[in-house]
Amino acid sequence: MFTASTPALQSLRNSDSGGHSERIRWRATRHRRAIVAVLVLLFVVQTVLTWTTSTAVPTERGGLSQQARRGRQWYQEFNCTACHQFYGLGGYMGPDLTNVTRAKGKGPEYTKAFILHGTARMPNLGVDKSQADDLVAYLDAMAASGTYPIRAANLTPYGTYKEMIPDGE
Ligand code: HEC
Repeated sequence: MFTASTPALQSLRNSDSGGHSERIRWRATRHRRAIVAVLVLLFVVQTVLTWTTSTAVPTERGGLSQQARRGRQWYQEFNCTACHQFYGLGGYMGPDLTNVTRAKGKGPEYTKAFILHGTARMPNLGVDKSQADDLVAYLDAMAASGTYPIRAANLTPYGTYKEMIPDGE
């Protein structure tokens, strides 16, 4: 067995447990802790920002007014979707209704006339006047949500947006 007075062991102990390397190790741990703390903080900030800005809804229920919500109910009860589409999805006996309340040459009154009276091709479904107003409000909320079909746009060579191509060209 070595004794504590062995010169080789004495010098080994000095270099290993001496203040210098110990201090470096302690400082490294402290830096690592600081970096982890900063990363955790950034994660929390990013999470809060994502939650508050990306998930914000303009009004309750995705921005539909009371009247538009009633219209959505009628739209389901009269099963308009059996013949009509939103954004290209639905039945195909009648035209897409996504933008009918705001389309050139159409509009709310035009829409209401179809709903109240039907045509030779669209049946009169017995919708009353206040239900028709609710339906127009719902269709107008749909029109405000986007455009279908997607209008043509000029793109840059990099694939980013440059300008819209005006309708009818
Ligand atoms: C049985 C199928 C059918 C059902 C159900 C139906 N429609 Fe129609 N709808 C049509 C057809 C077909 C046309 C095209 C009529 C024409 O041009 O004469 C049309 C046209 C329309 C138009 C005019 C669209 C345009 O761009 O000119 C509107 C608005 C409309 N329907 C709303 C509704 C609503 C709202 C409902 C539900 C309350 C409904 N329709 C239920 C078949 C239907």
